[in-house]
Amino acid sequence: MRFDSQGQPLFDSDGLLIVETALAHAASSTTKATSSRPGLIVAAGSYSALHRQYAEVPTTHWPRHIIAPGFIDLHVHYPQTDIIGAPADGLLPWLEQYTFPAETHFSSDSHAQEVAVFFLQELLRNGVTTALVFASSHPESVNALFTQAQQQHLRLITGKVLQDRNSPEGVRDDTEQSLLDTEQLIHRWHQHERLGYAITPRFAPTSSHQQLYGAGELALQYPDTWIQSHVAENLDELRWVKTLYPQARSYLDVYRQAGLLRPRAIYAHCIHLDDADRRLMHDTHTAAAVSPTSNLFLGSGFFDFAAAKHTGMPWALASDVGAGTSFCPLQTMLAAYYVGREGQTKEGLSLAPSTLWWHHTGAGAAALGLHNHIGNLQPGLEADFVVLDPHASPLLSRRSQQANTLQEQLFALIVLGDQRAIAHTHIAPRIALSNAL
Ligand code: GUN
Ligand code: ZN
Repeated sequence: MRFDSQGQPLFDSDGLLIVETALAHAASSTTKATSSRPGLIVAAGSYSALHRQYAEVPTTHWPRHIIAPGFIDLHVHYPQTDIIGAPADGLLPWLEQYTFPAETHFSSDSHAQEVAVFFLQELLRNGVTTALVFASSHPESVNALFTQAQQQHLRLITGKVLQDRNSPEGVRDDTEQSLLDTEQLIHRWHQHERLGYAITPRFAPTSSHQQLYGAGELALQYPDTWIQSHVAENLDELRWVKTLYPQARSYLDVYRQAGLLRPRAIYAHCIHLDDADRRLMHDTHTAAAVSPTSNLFLGSGFFDFAAAKHTGMPWALASDVGAGTSFCPLQTMLAAYYVGREGQTKEGLSLAPSTLWWHHTGAGAAALGLHNHIGNLQPGLEADFVVLDPHASPLLSRRSQQANTLQEQLFALIVLGDQRAIAHTHIAPRIALSNAL
């Protein structure tokens, strides 16, 4: 399965995906000129249309499976891997009771390495091939995750959390040093192979004005870095921001004033926004990372998919582990469906399964400005893909046999599927990518 330029699904019941490997590339470049590069998709389409042209290419056969783009997780915290499912009264007590204590441990390089290895395995087990990840406030945590991702040749974006106030000892950083550390980490990692750096103020309440504006200056100085933060997740958080930034029109406006809304800026949650905020996101090409399992778990509220649609605000799906309860994109899509669902007592948008799927792949890539590299299966894109098994469990298999359309099959996977349905995750073979993302 792949998508057209409008995000509509294209499906061949008997398909063929051709990938350039380093070996094949070496062989073909000695015999004829080739425009493809190792690690990239050469062709995707129906077997009958393509197989003659690629008769010499060795193939792996996946009968009764679906090959699809790797999932993109647009917002996830790797230092929160060990606190999934920690219950609290809401966001702010949860941060205080579980999150900050857990993140304190990431000053230890060995702890950070151990969790980074597990975290990346968990992404891959769930078919996630690219993620935009919060590290902790310790540079060690960033180095650990980038090191592991580089070894596995993953396309991954992360950054050191900036939080110089309203944070306990152990995670609180120093204003000036935090900005120096950020710049150093940008130089060390950004655009190295498949890695990218995200300037990462945790959220407005935990950054001083000086730190937030400093982050904005770095974002201007390094325009192809990413920005990630949180906005408008919880009503207590909103009231707090109002007292800290009384002059701002809205919570989102705090980030606008600091120069933190621009292409490649991603804000988690975006629940309690108004239409002026949503239009501001649209106009500045800033995207929302929508995390329904997290919002349901913490009782934060419900993302308004209809309002996002009518204002044109870009959005894509995310796990937000550890407030989010699952690494599995199938479960995130199901939660998004529940949250959006129009019902007799609630207006809403009943999202089609292929729309949910697009918002966990191609739309995520577009939000990151990486749609010419990942998020779809088209010639020239990087060969990060998943192989799905619609027969992974007895019930899913039974239901899949009754599916008459692609939409029915995708719904069966979303509703009944879990990690077992991800039969294989394929990462593009190591390639000499140009640094221009
Ligand atoms: N707001 C500030 N920090 C966090 C975090 O770690 N998780 C969530 N869900 N919201 C936040
Ligand atoms: Zn988050």
